[in-house]
Amino acid sequence: MKTIIEPFKIKSVEPIRMTTREEREQVLAAAGYNLFSVRAEDVLIDLLTDSGTSSMSSEQWAAMMRGDESYAGARSFFRFEAQVREITGFTHIIPAHQGRAAERILFNVLHREGGIYLGNTHFDTTRANIEYLGDEAIDLPIPEGTVPSQLHPFKGNIDLDRLASDLRRHAGAVRAVIMTVTNNSGGGQPVSMANLREASRLAHAQGTLLVLDSCRFAENAYFIKQREPEYAEKSILEIAQEMFSYADATTMSAKKDGLANIGGFLACSDDEIAAAARNLLILTEGFPTYGGLAGRDLEAIAQGLREVMEEDYLRYRIRSVEYFCESLQAAGVPMIQPPGGHAVFLDAGSFLPQVPPAEFPGQVLANELYLAGGIRGVEIGSVMFGKEDPATGTVQHPPMELVRLAIPRRVYTQSHVDYAAEVITAVHAERERLRGLKMTYQAPFLRHFTARFAPL
Ligand code: F0G
Repeated sequence: MKTIIEPFKIKSVEPIRMTTREEREQVLAAAGYNLFSVRAEDVLIDLLTDSGTSSMSSEQWAAMMRGDESYAGARSFFRFEAQVREITGFTHIIPAHQGRAAERILFNVLHREGGIYLGNTHFDTTRANIEYLGDEAIDLPIPEGTVPSQLHPFKGNIDLDRLASDLRRHAGAVRAVIMTVTNNSGGGQPVSMANLREASRLAHAQGTLLVLDSCRFAENAYFIKQREPEYAEKSILEIAQEMFSYADATTMSAKKDGLANIGGFLACSDDEIAAAARNLLILTEGFPTYGGLAGRDLEAIAQGLREVMEEDYLRYRIRSVEYFCESLQAAGVPMIQPPGGHAVFLDAGSFLPQVPPAEFPGQVLANELYLAGGIRGVEIGSVMFGKEDPATGTVQHPPMELVRLAIPRRVYTQSHVDYAAEVITAVHAERERLRGLKMTYQAPFLRHFTARFAPL
């Protein structure tokens, strides 16, 4: 059969509260035209993030009841540790309350004056944690990765030529090469095994560590299975194990491919890094066998990590994103092609050519999708990554102005996706009437979460 069904039945449901456009206009104005400040109950289809928003399975809920809440040495930790170790092969498995906590700890351990990190594209929390320490994060995506309409099977790859020359140029200063799988900020695009292998070889040739940001490792592994012929017969676990074998350490937010609502970890095999990381962990997260999580959270993650590698699940997961993308493509909506693993990325720059980057086309589009149909997405463009040079006052804009519509795992059905596509198509038909925004408040870092805007 051609139809790929959701490979689950629904046991527990949450109502969606219907709202009118007039209500949403009031809500958005009160939120300073920033969807992060809108209450979830005022949203119909919440595509803000795929992070921590998964539906858990009955097996995960059952596992939670087995959670051992002992402060030290809980049974749940050892179950979690064994599962993470099976996938990653690392010796030291250090739980943290979410991905950015693992990042903060790792980058503190690796920090040296004038440190540099090279990556395919650093995610915003990764970049912020690096820059907060005074280090520098440099993105080296392949050229195809920054052109929304250009097709490439592994658009998340790092540019190996630039990686090689930057490793030489900054010899001694590069603290790590960070490969984010899938490449979230670059469109949820996969990284090929060949690219990972070569990036690892180049890094190691300079004595540099390779760190895998593995939030969406299973989705990436599925793309490798589909698109890299020598992996067609391998299991997702085998592919994941090979991916991790090229890395010296990993940070993971279990809120994505852990199919859990909270949690993350740092893992590595280096005893010194692990010892330093555990010391920092105790300072802010907790004892090394719980790292800021409850025993039941560790159980949910351990079970989620198993379920996320099931091929029926991944086939449905990747297909549902592709289906959403195809519906929009049929209506001529500009977006990143091909679709990534966890989200559809609308190309707001092409969608709204009348709105210049300084007037935040991504934010304008995200807001309009909310007004038109109660859909919440997130801007990934000049609000998130625009940078003002304090000396000259000139603003540097990122290469793409995007709106990400991230699909929570196992939450929405095909009719939700059809509705979202209908709303976006309707906004596209009226795109010429949309106008820009000006920013009226911004925080010193991660400004997109709390910024406020006013219509121009
Ligand atoms: N790395 C990547 C690639 C991510 O996508 C995220 C989170 C993190 C690290 C940080 O993990 O949230 O558990 O602290 N991404 C979410 C998103 C927030 O919406 O894409 P965290």
